[in-house]
Amino acid sequence: MSSPSALTCQRHLFDIPADVTYLNAAYMSPILKEAAALGQVSVAKKMHPWDITVPDFFDPPNRACALMAQMIGAGSDDVALIPSVSYGAAIAVGNLPVQAGQKILVLADQFPSNVYPWQEMARRLGAQVVTIPRSENGDWTTPLCAAIDKDTAIVACAQAHWTDGSRVDLVAVGRRCREQGAALVLDLTQSLGVAPFSVGEVDPDFMIVAAYKWLLGPYSYGFIYVAPRHQDGVPLEEGWIARKDADDFARLVDYQPAYQSGAGRFNMGERSNFMLTPMAIHGLEKLNGWGAEAIAEYLSSLTDMIAARAQGMGLTVADRAHRSPHLIGLNFRDGAPEGLTVALAERKIFVSVRGNSIRVSPHIYNDIQDVEKLFSALEELL
Ligand SMILES: Cc1ncc(COP(=O)(O)O)c(C=O)c1O
Repeated sequence: MSSPSALTCQRHLFDIPADVTYLNAAYMSPILKEAAALGQVSVAKKMHPWDITVPDFFDPPNRACALMAQMIGAGSDDVALIPSVSYGAAIAVGNLPVQAGQKILVLADQFPSNVYPWQEMARRLGAQVVTIPRSENGDWTTPLCAAIDKDTAIVACAQAHWTDGSRVDLVAVGRRCREQGAALVLDLTQSLGVAPFSVGEVDPDFMIVAAYKWLLGPYSYGFIYVAPRHQDGVPLEEGWIARKDADDFARLVDYQPAYQSGAGRFNMGERSNFMLTPMAIHGLEKLNGWGAEAIAEYLSSLTDMIAARAQGMGLTVADRAHRSPHLIGLNFRDGAPEGLTVALAERKIFVSVRGNSIRVSPHIYNDIQDVEKLFSALEELL
């Protein structure tokens, strides 16, 4: 793993034209050039299926899971492959007990794939979804921890709020959940890979992540970490590949009651995903090589600069203590001006608007020049 100070802009590894300022990883990151080449090889391989062998069904997806496990400090058996966050949330819903009258806590304006499943579960079981309101300074941790009590069945949240990157201290939330007997379900789609996280420190029941943003991976590819205490739970599907000895193709109809070990039963059908898996692996290898701490240090140097420039223009940002290293919302009190993202896109500067904020989300291919280009355009347009 590199030391934090060693990390520099990695734009040369991506196919980003010189006139494009892409500050929108929270929307979707580009895949690495090398990942695209690997993807092309795997697409070509499907023209010659006689070259696709039994180990191709198992070794690459197992490697992807092992790399994810390495990233979060889990055992390689604790991770399964899923196509989306909503799929992962459905696994969590199916494996956590909730009594009538109990609470499920979510954050205000949380991403819908981590809200609808809980609304539906609460409706079905007579429980209640309680929403933690936004605080002025971006502090979610204090009100969230205060709301977790003996009546809380589940806390479902993120580490970085998807609209503006305001940070949740998951170590504190995990501790509070354990004290009060609540389960913790995390959607780390907007932080994993670029903000340090360890299952050892947080002890979530389930951690779900989509790969197409900060993990530099393809779309329709994600992971679920299942805590060992839930690994004898109920999967969403009953496919052949989640069963023991699935690699013995000649004997698949000797129906097998036992599942694969660890979190293996929770894998989606067709987890082998020949075309996407090599791309996902490449992104994870690069990220694990750089290390989340070094990436976070590099990106927070950019978001600190963005915060200072935005405040200089009269926009507000979350306090530094409550900010994420990689994702920052520049808040307009009365809403972002109409057409701002379109005007920026005309200048080939790409950010998003979420709620009242411009959401700026640099990744490892961005540098100070991108920040300069964004603010000279904002100064012109606002
Ligand atoms: C926090 C968060 N979770 C999940 C998703 C995607 O959800 P799904 O994989 O269910 O499409 C997004 C997409 O923007 C997101 O920001």
